[in-house]
Amino acid sequence: MPTPTSPPARIAARMSDIAPFHVMELLARAQALEAAGRDIVHMEVGEPDFPTPEPIVEAAARYVAAGRVPYTPALGIPALRAAIATFYRERYLVDVAPERIVITAGASGALLLALGVLTNPGDEFLLADPGYPCNRHFVRTFEGVPRPIRVDAACNFQPTAAHWEAAWTPRTRGLILSSPSNPTGSLIDRNDLIDLISAIEMRAGTLISDEIYHGLTYATSASSALEFTPDAFVVNSFSKYFGMTGWRLGWLVVPEAYLRAVEKLAQNLFICASAPAQYGALAAFAPSTLDMLEARRETLATQRDVLLPALRDLGFEVRAEPQGAFYIYADCSRLATDSATLCHDLLDQAGVAVTPGVDFGEFEPASHLRFSYVANVSRLQEGVRRMRQYFAARA
Ligand SMILES: Cc1ncc(COP(=O)(O)O)c(C=O)c1O
Repeated sequence: MPTPTSPPARIAARMSDIAPFHVMELLARAQALEAAGRDIVHMEVGEPDFPTPEPIVEAAARYVAAGRVPYTPALGIPALRAAIATFYRERYLVDVAPERIVITAGASGALLLALGVLTNPGDEFLLADPGYPCNRHFVRTFEGVPRPIRVDAACNFQPTAAHWEAAWTPRTRGLILSSPSNPTGSLIDRNDLIDLISAIEMRAGTLISDEIYHGLTYATSASSALEFTPDAFVVNSFSKYFGMTGWRLGWLVVPEAYLRAVEKLAQNLFICASAPAQYGALAAFAPSTLDMLEARRETLATQRDVLLPALRDLGFEVRAEPQGAFYIYADCSRLATDSATLCHDLLDQAGVAVTPGVDFGEFEPASHLRFSYVANVSRLQEGVRRMRQYFAARA
């Protein structure tokens, strides 16, 4: 009898456009080295190094201990939607109806819902390059076309109304903005945001504003698109500022006219976000939790102020001062010809994990690296010491 063989995989054509998230692969390699006994300084990670605040953990534990963990409404528990509306009123002085706030599985779930209800095949979305890598893949997943906009230090690594006008075509459906940005930490200026929104709306386009790093800014605070328009999709998350990456919880503020469509898609794609995470997050807005988060923000500011000058001193060039998130996007062309090789060598030879530019787009990835400054000051200093030694040995 012939032995049965598996049929060849028939993977959808779109998958050839979905690149791996290199930083995850680099993290796996760093973890394998650690398992083999090496000490690695982590400057590649995209999450805070703090534990989830205790009041959140306790609230979730109390909920789970009661023993019943059913589905919640698809759009989230009403108390959490109301708490987020209050947060907008207190922090941004804007009124957002709780009915427009949809609880999601992280910012990732929110981006998928927004793009799912907006994108017809062939619709173009403009995205900053360098920028958050998953966005172009989300657009592609819905058969849209991601259109990178090259941003650089001259525009503070943020897209402007002029970029929108120059790149716009009749197929352009919208623009995805991330401010503060991953990987550059840059922040769109308030007036530039106002101009960008009006340029987009003049062309009947839609802004998706990813505000996941709001709260993590170090000089000026970030403006929300909600301050200027009710027609943007605003994405946010409990992952970064609230220190809840693994809980998978975020939210999407939806323009009124799209609410029913988002609700239908949320019901089908996710049923609901994690119930324990939602009940835990109710404690995220308590004044004592917010005080704790503010203290953490100050710690991150100190860490940035240690790493930024040290990188410049090593010979990296940082063209725009990072103003938020916890990343520094550094040009390494004075030190190496290829950032991916440099990342590999820094990990293997110096025990320092850093993310290569290739994750963030097509604009000079070979000459850029992303450093994350979530590690504490002594670990950052140790990483700098090891890099100095590595570059000195090569000289
Ligand atoms: C700009 C940006 N948007 C969205 C996400 C996804 O975050 P979440 O964990 O909330 O899904 C990330 C994660 O790093 C990010 O950097």
